[in-house]
Amino acid sequence: MSLLTPMPTGTDLRAEIERLRKERNAVILAHYYQKPELQDLADFVGDSLELSRKAADTDAEVIAFCGVKFMAETAKILSPDKIVVLPDMEAGCSLEDSCPPEKFAAFRAQHPDHIALTYINCSTEVKALSDIIVTSSSAETILSQIPRDQPVIFGPDRHLGGYLNRKFDREMLLWPGVCIVHEAFSERELLKLKEQHPDAPVAAHPECPPHIVDHADIVGSTSAILQYAKTFAGDTLIVATEPHIIHQMQKALPHKNFIGAPGADGNCNCNICPYMALNNLEKLYLCLRDLTPRVEIEEGLRIKAKRSLDRMLDMASGTIGLGDLGRVGVPLP
Ligand code: 13P
Ligand code: SF4
Repeated sequence: MSLLTPMPTGTDLRAEIERLRKERNAVILAHYYQKPELQDLADFVGDSLELSRKAADTDAEVIAFCGVKFMAETAKILSPDKIVVLPDMEAGCSLEDSCPPEKFAAFRAQHPDHIALTYINCSTEVKALSDIIVTSSSAETILSQIPRDQPVIFGPDRHLGGYLNRKFDREMLLWPGVCIVHEAFSERELLKLKEQHPDAPVAAHPECPPHIVDHADIVGSTSAILQYAKTFAGDTLIVATEPHIIHQMQKALPHKNFIGAPGADGNCNCNICPYMALNNLEKLYLCLRDLTPRVEIEEGLRIKAKRSLDRMLDMASGTIGLGDLGRVGVPLP
C-alpha cells in the first residue's frame, strides 16, 4: 500500500506543477512520444540525444523526466548530483527488456575482437558493458568514424542495426531486439494509405522493420522526422513513428495534414507506446511533490556506464574520434 498522500480532489494540476517546478528548482524534460499535455508544459521537448545533452547541461536541482526509464537513468548517469524523478517507474522499453545484461555480457565474451556499439534504449548495466552508445540521431555520425575493418556488435535494436548495415555496407553482428511499437506498422495498410495519398511522402523511424523503411522518403530520428515535417513541400505527410510526435508537427504547421502510419488493423492508434503512455499530468505532479519515484544508480556502475555515454556525446559532436578507444577491438578495462 502506498504511504504517499493522495492528490487532494479539485487540485489544479497545471498550477501545482508550475508552483512545484519553481519551488524545487526543477526542469521538466519530455520526449516527443509523450502525451501532448506533458509536451506542452515541459521546459524542453526533444529526441534521445537532445534530452541527454539537456540532462548533462542543466543547472536545475531536480530533473523530472517525462519519458521512459532508460532515459531517466541516462539523465542520472550524466548528472549524478541531481535528483531525477520519473512519473511512472514502470515506463520501460521492449528493447531494454530484450537485452538482459548477463546474456549481453556472454554475447560479448563470444566475440572478443568486436567493439559494442549500443543503442541508448538499454539498461544502465548494458551501457556499462558497452564501448560506445548511440541514439538514432547520432548513430550514423558515430558509425562513420569506426574503421571498416573493425568488427562491431550492435544491440539491442536489430532493425536500427540492419538499417545501418545496409546504408553503410557493414556487417555488424545484431542483437535480436525490436521496438514493439515500430514493429507493429503494417506494410499492406501503409501501401493502401499511399494509394489514397499518392503525393504524400513517408517519414519513418529506423526502428521500423525494412518492409516499412523501404517505402520511406526519409528515415531518421524523431527530431529528423520533425525537421522534415517542417520543411517538406507538400500538404500531407505519412508518419511512421509513435504518433504523439504529430502534436509538434501540427503545432508548427496547423494547415498541413499529418497521418500516422497504420498498424495491421488499419488504425494508427495501435502504435502508441504503452510505456510512454504510463506518464500523465497527475503522476508528474505527484513525482514533483514527493520527489519519488527517484532514479538511483550505484556509483561504480554509473561510472562504467558514463564512459560509453561520454564517448557518444563527444563523437556525436565531433570533438574526439576513436582516439581514446586505442586500437579498437581491444576490450576496454
Ligand atoms: P529518438 O527520439 O532518439 O529518435 O528515439 C526514439 C525512441 O524510440 C525513443 O524510445
Ligand atoms: Fe521503447 Fe519503442 Fe517505446 Fe521507444 S517507442 S520506448 S523504443 S518500446
